[in-house]
Amino acid sequence: MSRWSRSIRAGGRARVAGVAAIPIAVLFVALVVTVAAPSALAGEAVSAIAKGGRLYDNWRVELNLRDRRISHLPEPEILGTEATAAGRCVTCHGWDYQGQYGRSGGLVDGIAAAAGGDPRAVLAVLGDRIHGYGQDLRGEDLRNLALFVTRGQVNMDDWIDPASRRAHGDPGQGSIYFHSICAGCHGADGMAVASIPPLGDFSRDEPWHALHVILNGHPNGSMPPLRALEHARLADTLAYMQTLPSRPAIAAIVHGGRLYDTWYTENGRPAPEGWHPAYPKAAREALEGDTEASRVRAQRYSWRCVACHGWDYKGRDGVARSENLVPHVGIDGMAGMFPKRVEGVLTDDTHDYDRLLTARDIEDLAMFVSRGQIDMSQWIDPGTGAFLGDAAAHAAYYQTICATCHGVDGRGVRTMPPLGRMVTHDPERALHSVFNGHAGDDMPPLRAMGADLAAGILAYAATLPRRK
Ligand code: HEC
Ligand code: HEC
Ligand code: HEC
Ligand code: HEC
Repeated sequence: MSRWSRSIRAGGRARVAGVAAIPIAVLFVALVVTVAAPSALAGEAVSAIAKGGRLYDNWRVELNLRDRRISHLPEPEILGTEATAAGRCVTCHGWDYQGQYGRSGGLVDGIAAAAGGDPRAVLAVLGDRIHGYGQDLRGEDLRNLALFVTRGQVNMDDWIDPASRRAHGDPGQGSIYFHSICAGCHGADGMAVASIPPLGDFSRDEPWHALHVILNGHPNGSMPPLRALEHARLADTLAYMQTLPSRPAIAAIVHGGRLYDTWYTENGRPAPEGWHPAYPKAAREALEGDTEASRVRAQRYSWRCVACHGWDYKGRDGVARSENLVPHVGIDGMAGMFPKRVEGVLTDDTHDYDRLLTARDIEDLAMFVSRGQIDMSQWIDPGTGAFLGDAAAHAAYYQTICATCHGVDGRGVRTMPPLGRMVTHDPERALHSVFNGHAGDDMPPLRAMGADLAAGILAYAATLPRRK
């Protein structure tokens, strides 16, 4: 099952990054200019159908029932994880409206057979014992849903080849729509909305979901529904989106590495309260100290990947230099594993990080676990902690790349101990930071230049003064 359909089953529990809304007027100018064939339906009916389509996608979000701003991705802090899963039509009936018989992950039969039928029959279904939506939705919303079901479904197979997932369309034509209507928010490369996967990858993996959104808009979002436009042009747009680039792997990996370090600092969010449930009791007692402040600090620490899996990625089998015990298995066993499998671990009951992180963050963490780990013992002597590099040969690198911030003697960043001390006390942590960048800071990651260089520079940094 793809991550998207999984996250839908889980209620799409993820956070949303704010996006500066582009003026709607600009969009509609773009629309009017590009409208090719006005639909036979009156504008009012079209907008009611599109509204029904957004309710089908996620009615809680569309109706702002839970204090939401612009997303179909419910906030777990507000909803609780149970409630978020409840009641999205798409979870049961699929993005291609073919339910379990389609390709887009429905659980039961589709709704395709109801297309062209009597809206009153659908209203009856929505009030039946399985559905019971009469309690949650008002009459007008139910009517919009019934209109969508009977008059708003498209035959997805006409526009998307079910086997290859490729849209039948002309990407050249589609680029016009994409750049006039979507790029203002999503960026010319489809990557600007940081909470969702790049649109290129998304529309290759989930073309039915993408087309549904193009037709109907996103729930409670500011994207205009485009269903009044000729559907062939929308298929062009989807075909163009399928040509958009994937994010460079290295950008995902170093971001994943910083999330591994401290995901909440990297994201500029508060850490969850209390202990991570999987942080074992003995380790808690060793860590929590005597004061309230030290306990809170220890609890916050327990949510970091590194707290359970270690700076050398080997968990309890690795070197433990810092004061904290590393209580669990390493992540090194999953190096080289297919990233989707790692995503499965990060969203399992032990981890449950899709409650706290966006879909893209989970993807980047999985990329780090799968492709970003190095065997640190090649660069750091496990016994002494000394860097196996030529310090003198790397002095000039340190002075050009690092000294601007850390100072010529390593004492320039006031919020941390002198670099000389930090690097000798915690070499694995230093190597991880220099390779991936420091969570929440501007420090540039050196991964692309290779671990030999990073370790060489750190060998030099280890010779710097250790006292303030
Ligand atoms: C006003 C800004 C804006 C415009 C314009 C916009 N989007 Fe979005 N889009 C977003 C945001 C923000 C999200 C993230 C989810 C959310 O918060 O709704 C998103 C999410 C998506 C998703 C993920 C699925 C979903 O339901 O959220 C798809 C697919 C998508 N957009 C496609 C498009 C396409 C195609 C266009 C142009 C036809 C477009 N968007 C125009 C802001 C925009
Ligand atoms: C938890 C799963 C689930 C959810 C959520 C769900 N349905 Fe259904 N739906 C079913 C099942 C099971 C059936 C078949 C039994 C029945 O008719 O009640 C069905 C049948 C239907 C039918 C009749 C299909 C036909 O071929 O006649 C329509 C229309 C329908 N659902 C629309 C919706 C809409 C619209 C929503 C969202 C507001 C929705 N469903 C949400 C499970 C679900
Ligand atoms: C509070 C402790 C804790 C935290 C924090 C934690 N994990 Fe884990 N992790 C575990 C435990 C326990 C296991 C083994 C059992 C399991 O997977 O349920 C595990 C297993 C794993 C595995 C699979 C290892 C293997 O070889 O099977 C990976 C990969 C992993 N974690 C990655 C992460 C990442 C990435 C993060 C941060 C987003 C993280 N973990 C945060 C406790 C934790
Ligand atoms: C743009 C400024 C900047 C540059 C350039 C920079 N750093 Fe940093 N570095 C920082 C900041 C800020 C911190 C975080 C201080 C804190 O934790 O409060 C940091 C932290 C570190 C840490 C500690 C990481 C940790 O986990 O606590 C190490 C080690 C480090 N830097 C090494 C280097 C080395 C080696 C270079 C050169 C390759 C370098 N830095 C270049 C700003 C920079």
